[in-house]
Amino acid sequence: RPRVLSGIQPTAGSFHLGNYLGAVRQWVALQETHDAFYMLADLHAITVPQDPAELRANSRLAAAQLLAAGLDPERCTLFVQSHVPEHAQLGWVMNCLTGFGEASRMTQFKDKSARHGADRATVGLFTYPILQVADILLYQADAVPVGEDQRQHVELTRDLAERFNARYAPTFTVPGAHIVKETAKIYDLQDPTAKMSKSAASPKGLVNLLDEPKTSAKKFKSAVTDTDTVIRYDPEGKPGVSNLLTVYSTLTGTGIAELEAQYEGKGYGALKTDLAEVFVEWVTPFRDRTQEYLGDPETLDSLLAKGAEKARAVAAETLATVYDRVGFLPAK
Ligand code: TYM
Repeated sequence: RPRVLSGIQPTAGSFHLGNYLGAVRQWVALQETHDAFYMLADLHAITVPQDPAELRANSRLAAAQLLAAGLDPERCTLFVQSHVPEHAQLGWVMNCLTGFGEASRMTQFKDKSARHGADRATVGLFTYPILQVADILLYQADAVPVGEDQRQHVELTRDLAERFNARYAPTFTVPGAHIVKETAKIYDLQDPTAKMSKSAASPKGLVNLLDEPKTSAKKFKSAVTDTDTVIRYDPEGKPGVSNLLTVYSTLTGTGIAELEAQYEGKGYGALKTDLAEVFVEWVTPFRDRTQEYLGDPETLDSLLAKGAEKARAVAAETLATVYDRVGFLPAK
């Protein structure tokens, strides 16, 4: 079976609709066909200031949401990044293989450091993509299921894997990004040219899965569209409507063309109201399941411990090879 690895930051508490449609939904599908490793990127979560108690709570909350979304620990390996020390260890080796200018070109760092203020941006935030490279290479992943905003980090992973392989000996699988075109970038409901994100300008554009369903329904009903009235999929000309159609189509499994036909001659109001309903119907059981998993933290923790054990077996083997290749004296 080909292997996949991906991660999500537990920082925000609730996942948002972009996380789910862009990434987590693919993770659930891929566990059927791939040897799948999914992790909570808590090392990445401390690259910006965090509250310790909140981080701990949010890590369990993230695990609960992943299970509620359909990850099955029998079919995939679900673990916490900090439970597998090899991530930090390989991260260091990768730091020493990355050019300073190369790291400086990572656009997410540029965006985030601009947001936090250049002086307050940490070195951890700067080397964040290199740790992500280590995450992926440790597992010899063939593919990395992510949203569009992570593409550049997967490109860096390919570059560094090739560099290491060329400099020492073939060691790493060179992975590809697994990005599903239709849902690669889910847009903000208030600003349909910006990606949906936790750091959105207005909370009205961000759909958090764990919010009261009524609150999210309202956001769908007041989503920004355009002054035209035709319901047509045209991401360039009609980004707002197209984003709504994407969400509608993905949550229901109805094709876009079918939706266009179904809403011919009807106004945006009808589309938004129906989509709000579709979302509430989907998210209600998701929220219930999340609460159920959260209600049993012991089971959750032991499941993550098992995942870490499985992950470590793979990660340790890769790291041992790397340490040998770079010339470290074996610790006998
Ligand atoms: P994170 O936690 O920001 O996001 C998790 C996943 O959600 C996707 N995503 C979106 N997809 C579509 N539309 C959107 N509006 C949207 N917003 C977020 C992201 O692309 C991502 O796939 N650096 C990573 C975590 C990470 C990782 C890894 C990923 C750490 N190590 C190794 C892959 C492999 C991050 O911060 O994702």
